[in-house]
Amino acid sequence: MSATSFQTDGKKYKLIAFQNVDEALDETESKAWQKLLSVMTHEIMNSVAPISSLADTLKNRLQQSAPLLKHHPGAVDDLELGIETIKRRSEGLLKFAETYRNLNKITTLNLTKVYVRDLFENLHRLMQPTLEQKEIELEIILKDPDLMLEADTNLVEQVLINLVVNAIEAVKSTNQPRIILAGYQSGNSKTIIKVADNGLGIPAEIMDKIFIPFFSTKKHGSGIGLSLCKQIMMLHRGNIQVQSATSEGTVFMLLF
Ligand SMILES: Nc1ncnc2c1ncn2[C@@H]1O[C@H](COP(=O)(O)OP(=O)(O)O)[C@@H](O)[C@H]1O
Ligand SMILES: [Mg+2]
Repeated sequence: MSATSFQTDGKKYKLIAFQNVDEALDETESKAWQKLLSVMTHEIMNSVAPISSLADTLKNRLQQSAPLLKHHPGAVDDLELGIETIKRRSEGLLKFAETYRNLNKITTLNLTKVYVRDLFENLHRLMQPTLEQKEIELEIILKDPDLMLEADTNLVEQVLINLVVNAIEAVKSTNQPRIILAGYQSGNSKTIIKVADNGLGIPAEIMDKIFIPFFSTKKHGSGIGLSLCKQIMMLHRGNIQVQSATSEGTVFMLLF
């Protein structure tokens, strides 16, 4: 907020200006994460790649010298197991770093005009088998069938898929599971897309973590879904917002 006073025609005025710094803060935070993670993944790859190949070499050597060690069969087994573990864990770490590198690769957009109804139709077609199988009701609310976006269709579809997949997981133990897709134009002529579910909700204490790369509360979650959504929305100079109430549900809003 900034303020200034001035005088004109003998009258005194005070001019107060409000500026929304949300987006700038968001972008700074996101860039900081990206920088940190790219340094980290670089370091991980550099140190783990040789560990992984060393494990391979050691394993081969061990097999070659097995005849010499035949009087200590237990020792050979132990060594093999240890080396195998080093190999497996280092391959896991390499894969983790590789995933992040791929995540960070999206830097340019292929912008076209696209109907929101087409985006919804595609998404519906794609998700219908899963939704049917899990008996989840999908409601689409689109009052203006001509509502359009200027966006990278593939990437926005990816965002919607990620949000719907999360919603499907969130309604797993809801009685009458339901997901709503809605599209409309806001007062200041932004196009807004909403993905809402009546699932378990997001606890307040993790709300500020859900967009952090690799943050997940799921046993086998990758934690990259929402951070990818955010990255894609920021590339579009748009935004992603969330509202949630525990055991009531969650709404994600994409602002274009
Ligand atoms: N619709 C939702 N309802 C409840 N929690 C959600 C929802 N979407 C995301 N979350 C929370 O945000 C976390 C991060 O989501 P995401 O980045 O997609 O990673 P992942 O799905 O692999 O865990 C999830 O683990 C979950 O705790
Ligand atoms: Mg997810």
